Amino acid sequence: MRANYSGVRNFLLGLLLLLPLCGGSAWAQAQSQDTQAQRQEVQPGNNAPTWREVRSGKEAYTTAKGREAGVLIQNEGQAWRKLRNGPIVQYGGWLVVLMLVGIGAFYKLRGPIGLHSPPTGKMIERFSSFERIAHWSMAISFCILALSGLITLFGKFVLLPLIGHTLFGWLAEFGKTLHNFVGPIFAFSVVVFVVKFIGDNWPRAYDITWLVKGGGVLTGEVVPSGRFNAGEKIWFWGGVIGLGTVSCASGLVLDFPNFDQSRSLMILASTVHVIAGLWFILWAATHIYLGTVGTTGAYDAMRDGYVDETWAREHAQYWYEDVKAGRRALPSGEPGDATATTAPTQVQH
Ligand code: HEM
Repeated sequence: MRANYSGVRNFLLGLLLLLPLCGGSAWAQAQSQDTQAQRQEVQPGNNAPTWREVRSGKEAYTTAKGREAGVLIQNEGQAWRKLRNGPIVQYGGWLVVLMLVGIGAFYKLRGPIGLHSPPTGKMIERFSSFERIAHWSMAISFCILALSGLITLFGKFVLLPLIGHTLFGWLAEFGKTLHNFVGPIFAFSVVVFVVKFIGDNWPRAYDITWLVKGGGVLTGEVVPSGRFNAGEKIWFWGGVIGLGTVSCASGLVLDFPNFDQSRSLMILASTVHVIAGLWFILWAATHIYLGTVGTTGAYDAMRDGYVDETWAREHAQYWYEDVKAGRRALPSGEPGDATATTAPTQVQH
């Protein structure tokens, strides 16, 4: 008999332990209804307990199919909105302004990086047409993404008060659609660019000397480098590969929400995407400055494919010497020792 009693007792104890697990939710709901009913007695019209329940993030029943369809309100979304429209917009906005002012001030103080010796008039091929197409596909798609991204992030605060709801609504919608479609094109162009240029961006011992001397940018010294200097290599690895991978991967998660991503993952992707995109834009601004008004002759190289031999010797000495000595081919694949030729006639310098 004693054994039977203890068996029944253990069974009841077990039930008691399982009760909170099985009936926890129903109990909480009943309690919430109780607290709501009590609240209505003391403060009629105050639905705080119900809303607290709604915001608890618990999955409720719905006939709608889909991941998290039963969660009515997800608090993480509110935290994300506050972070995005608060510190990210504020600090990000000031960083963009600071970068533009900094570049302007640097140009005023330093001026463009020019040549130390006079041009020879002999042109050397710096980029093949395939390389230029790869660069400009990436650069143009990047600029479209940067502009439409900036409108999406800052437009509500900067443009809306200036141009009004109708025009801004149209612009924001157009920018968003453009951003969504150009994103994958940019991602593809990054892959092509990286495959094409990775060989010339491999780190070398002389890159350390270049970095220690700051590329001679402030002293005016000519510091030798390979086809690309250490500054360009850091931009290649950190900017194009690093930030390119992070912004493209997070962008694709947002672009294709049909792979059953959770809302938490989308929020994380959005936050990472905005922060990586902003750093990418800031960094690209310095590259675009150096590739245009900041360095005499650099833009011509990327536009037409040719530079003066003096430019090649002063900006990429080891590469120039290798090409002249026939140790490496021209970018188009022509033998290197045939370089003392002039550029095609349509190129005006
Ligand atoms: C839209 C404006 C842009 C201009 C005017 C521009 C200009 C240039 C120029 C002139 C060069 C050749 C430099 C040299 O001969 O050493 C170059 C190279 C390069 N550009 Fe751009 N660029 C632009 C946008 C971009 C963007 C948006 C990216 C990346 C997303 C980018 C990535 C690169 C890379 C990685 C190189 C080669 C450096 C290396 O491989 O190390 N460019 N660019």
